[in-house]
Amino acid sequence: MSSDAIFQPLRFRSLEVKNRIFRSNIAGRLDDYDGGGSQVRINWELKFARGGVGAIVSSWTGVDERGKIVPGFASIETDERIPFWRELGRRVHEHDCRYIVQLAHAGRQRDVPAVTFGTGLSSTSKPDALHGFEAERATRADLEAIKRSFASAARRAREASLDGIEIHGANGYLFTQFLSSAINDREDEYGGPLENRARLLLETVEAVRSEIGRDFHLQVKISTTEHANAFLPWLGTGNTIEDSVQVCRWLEQAGVDAIHVSTGSTFPHPENPAGEFSLEDMVRTYDVMLSSGKSTFRNYLLFRLWPVNRVMKARWERDPTQVPGRLLPDARAVKAAVGIPVIVTGGFQQASLIAAALERGDCDAVSIARGLVANNDLVELFRAGHDLPPKPCTYCNKCLYNVLEHPIGCYDERRFPSRQAMVEQVMSVYEPAA
Ligand SMILES: Cc1cc2nc3c(=O)[nH]c(=O)nc-3n(C[C@H](O)[C@H](O)[C@H](O)COP(=O)(O)O)c2cc1C
Ligand code: SF4
Repeated sequence: MSSDAIFQPLRFRSLEVKNRIFRSNIAGRLDDYDGGGSQVRINWELKFARGGVGAIVSSWTGVDERGKIVPGFASIETDERIPFWRELGRRVHEHDCRYIVQLAHAGRQRDVPAVTFGTGLSSTSKPDALHGFEAERATRADLEAIKRSFASAARRAREASLDGIEIHGANGYLFTQFLSSAINDREDEYGGPLENRARLLLETVEAVRSEIGRDFHLQVKISTTEHANAFLPWLGTGNTIEDSVQVCRWLEQAGVDAIHVSTGSTFPHPENPAGEFSLEDMVRTYDVMLSSGKSTFRNYLLFRLWPVNRVMKARWERDPTQVPGRLLPDARAVKAAVGIPVIVTGGFQQASLIAAALERGDCDAVSIARGLVANNDLVELFRAGHDLPPKPCTYCNKCLYNVLEHPIGCYDERRFPSRQAMVEQVMSVYEPAA
C-alpha cells in the first residue's frame, strides 16, 4: 500500500500540519525542579522535529503549582515561562513542524508531589485505588481557580507563538477524575449524570475560548474507553465509548478543533501504553514513588513477591502483537459522531497500517510516542519507503518504567549493538549542553 495518505497536509480550523504524523505526548524529567524549561527539553523536541513529524504535542505541562504531577517537567503556570516556550517553538518551527502544548492538571494522580502541596485536588476525597494518592475534594472556588489557570496558560501559549493547545482530558488526570463514572462521587452539579461529570471540562473549554478567542487551535485528549477495572476487577468499568462519543459531540459544540483519542482511567494503565510489564524494571524504579501514595510501599513489596508479582504481570501485560492500532475502533466511533478532525494514539509505527486507517476514514492523523522514541526519524524512514523501521519499537515499555528515575529514551537493549550504545542514545538528549 502506498504511504501517500500519510504525507497529505491536515487542515484544522485555524492550523495546517504538513503530514498526518503527530509526535504524541512524552513526559520526561528534563527541566528544572520549579518548572522552568531547559535546553535539554529543546534538544529532546528537536529530535522529532528533525525526524519529520508534522506536529509535536508536548509532554504534560502544568497550568498551576498544585496540579503538577512531578517536579522537573517544564510548566506554563506563570508569565515568566513564556520566553522558554517561545524559544522552544521557534526552534521547532525551523523544521517546518508545528508545536501544540498539552495543558494539564494532575488532580490526585501525582506520581511525585513537589515540596509545595502534599495533596491533590479531585472530584472525590478518596485516594486512587492503585497507588493510594491522597485527594481533597475540590470546592467550587477551587474549580473556578482551575478554569482560570487553564485560560491563562492558553493565553501564554498564544503569546509564546506556539501553534495550539491540547487540554489533557485523558489518562486519569483531573478531567478524567471528573468525567469518570468510576471515580467521580460528587453529588453537586459536577457529579452524577454524564452532563454533570463533563461540566468542568466544558466550562474550561469555554473559559479558554473567552481568553484566547476562536482562532487559536484547541484540541482535547480524552480516554474514550476507560477500562477502569482492567487491573483491579472490583472497580466499575468507568466511561464507555458511547459516553465519550457524547462528550466529544459536546466538545465540538463548545468550539474544540480536534479530538485526540486515548484510553485508560489512570496512567499508566494496562491499555495505555499497552505492551509488556517488566517486573525487573518496576522493582528497580518504583522506589521513586514510595513516599507518594498510601499503597506504594505495599505495591513495591508485591512487585517483588513471587508468585503474586506474576499474577500482577499477567493482569497488566498485553501481547505486543496486539498493540498496533488498538484504539482505531474508538477513533472510528468518534469520527462518525463529530465533524472535527480526530487524532488517535496507540501502537503506530507501520506505514501501511497508518495509511489504511487514514484511507478508511477511521481517523485524520495518528499520534506516536514509543515508535518515535525508538526511531526518532520514523517519518523519514516512511518517506524512504520503509513499511516498518529496521529496528521497530518492541512495546517493552522500558522507556516508561525508567521515566521517573532516568532520562527519557529507549531502554530496550535488544535494539542496540551494545549496552553502551543504548546508554549513548539515552544520554544524547544532553547534547548540546545547556
Ligand atoms: C514515557 C511516556 C511518557 C508519556 N507521557 C505522556 C504525557 O505527558 N501526556 C500524555 O497525554 N500521554 C503521555 N504518554 C502516552 C503517549 O502519548 C501515547 O498516547 C501512548 O504511549 C500510546 O502511544 P504509543 O503506542 O505510540 O506509545 C506517555 C507515554 C510514554 C511511553
Ligand atoms: S523502551 Fe524502546 S522499544 Fe521499549 S517501548 Fe520504549 S521505545 Fe519501544
